[in-house]
Amino acid sequence: MNLITSQIQDYCIAHSTRPSELARELETHTRTSIHGSNMLIGEMESSVITFLIKLGQVKNILELGTYTGYSALVMAEQLPEDGKLITIDINPHTTELAKSFWKRSPHGNKIQSILKSGPEALSTIEQTFDLIFIDADKNNYPHYLTWSLQHLSPRGIIIVDNTLWSGKILTPGLDKQTDSIICHNEMAKSLEGYVKTLLPVRDGMFLITKA
Ligand SMILES: C[S@@+](CC[C@H](N)C(=O)[O-])C[C@H]1O[C@@H](n2cnc3c(N)ncnc32)[C@H](O)[C@@H]1O
Repeated sequence: MNLITSQIQDYCIAHSTRPSELARELETHTRTSIHGSNMLIGEMESSVITFLIKLGQVKNILELGTYTGYSALVMAEQLPEDGKLITIDINPHTTELAKSFWKRSPHGNKIQSILKSGPEALSTIEQTFDLIFIDADKNNYPHYLTWSLQHLSPRGIIIVDNTLWSGKILTPGLDKQTDSIICHNEMAKSLEGYVKTLLPVRDGMFLITKA
């Protein structure tokens, strides 16, 4: 869902830092050949995340929801040489495609893929992260937020995607996914000791950091 006109969005993208040619090739390939390509974060959201990675001097990232590896590549491109990104997904086919693109990037060696369901993968991870990007199955959003709060470095940032869910968050009881996102948003809103902002960028980006 676009909350602004495509003309305005294109103008914003044209005036923002853009991902590499390879990331743009991956975006085009996904949009033309892969089912579910509306799941991609796209260039508008990429530029916001890029900005936050630099602002927060982020060195390590956890991503839930790899898909074809576009957002992972965009984020890895902004990490320092010794930066690391772990990305989790349950789909072996899209993960394979992601790997084929990462291999072609000088930043691909920063990315580690875990092929498991989100909750299972998270149960094996103990370290903290400077950035946690939540963009996988919506039914687990409350669980992913709880886990992320416990695994955030002192100056870390949590970004939760699709938190406006095409405006469906205004209609509780619509379906399980919508209610889960609403539950997540209420949890985030009620957090004490954190600064939050729900940005109406693309489908809604909820940003959370310690106060
Ligand atoms: C919105 S897409 C991620 C898009 C990606 N971040 C990007 O913009 O390039 C969501 C992904 O979550 C994955 N997914 C769905 N259920 C999952 C689960 N239980 N655990 C982990 N990943 C899951 C899907 O396979 C899909 O690839």
